[in-house]
Amino acid sequence: MGNNFHNRPFVVITIDGPAGAGKTTIAKKLALRLGFCMLDSGALYRAVALALIRGGVDPNNHSIPNAAICALNIGVEPGIGSMKVTLGTEDVSAAIRSEDVGVAASKFSAKSQVREFLLGIQRSVAEKCDLVAEGRDMGAVIFPLADVKFFLTADDKTRAKRRYEELFHKGVNSNFSEVLDEMRARDHRDETRNLAPLAAAPDAMIVDTTNFTPDEILEIMLERIDSRVGGLK
Ligand code: DC
Repeated sequence: MGNNFHNRPFVVITIDGPAGAGKTTIAKKLALRLGFCMLDSGALYRAVALALIRGGVDPNNHSIPNAAICALNIGVEPGIGSMKVTLGTEDVSAAIRSEDVGVAASKFSAKSQVREFLLGIQRSVAEKCDLVAEGRDMGAVIFPLADVKFFLTADDKTRAKRRYEELFHKGVNSNFSEVLDEMRARDHRDETRNLAPLAAAPDAMIVDTTNFTPDEILEIMLERIDSRVGGLK
């Protein structure tokens, strides 16, 4: 696109925040509206977790055997408003969505071997296309020079309700208080880990999504983007 103010070839917009804050929904809408690629970094952590679980690595172990990291064969195919993730030739975009893989991803993501492994893969996506990147550390660690940064948040009961409804629509029978407990446990792990803990970058705009619809959030974000990188809307 070439009209960003850092003189880099592609525009990068980052969206960070805890589970259930609305990142994926909003990132997708925003990417489709702007015609940008999407980096769903959580999907990469999930793909690593799936591969390690299949390889017999226990997420509760202190470290991961180096051979298991070397054997990882993760592929990313960013598209406009979507992203395909592969293990070798297998498309695992659906398989990584289970609760078990999400919990394992949260545990494996605290390990430096995993974060270092994924760093280059994530940055390389921004060399191919304009990007909406969503996750936990996009603005603070992976793309510190991003053109526009957001941090989405919402109260934990609202986030758990969204997750509960998502599971319900998928046909998964869950219990609201268990979903809330698991979400709080995940928040705690993501916020207190030593490496890249979940936190807003100092220059991120914080958006509380509790009382807004995705389309209302989108409009708030587009205003901000327009004031930072004019002419994209
Ligand atoms: O957003 P998600 O639920 O798909 O992410 C799965 C886990 O991956 C999450 O619990 C924390 C980890 N993660 C991370 O540490 N850093 C990111 N940028 C994205 C996800």
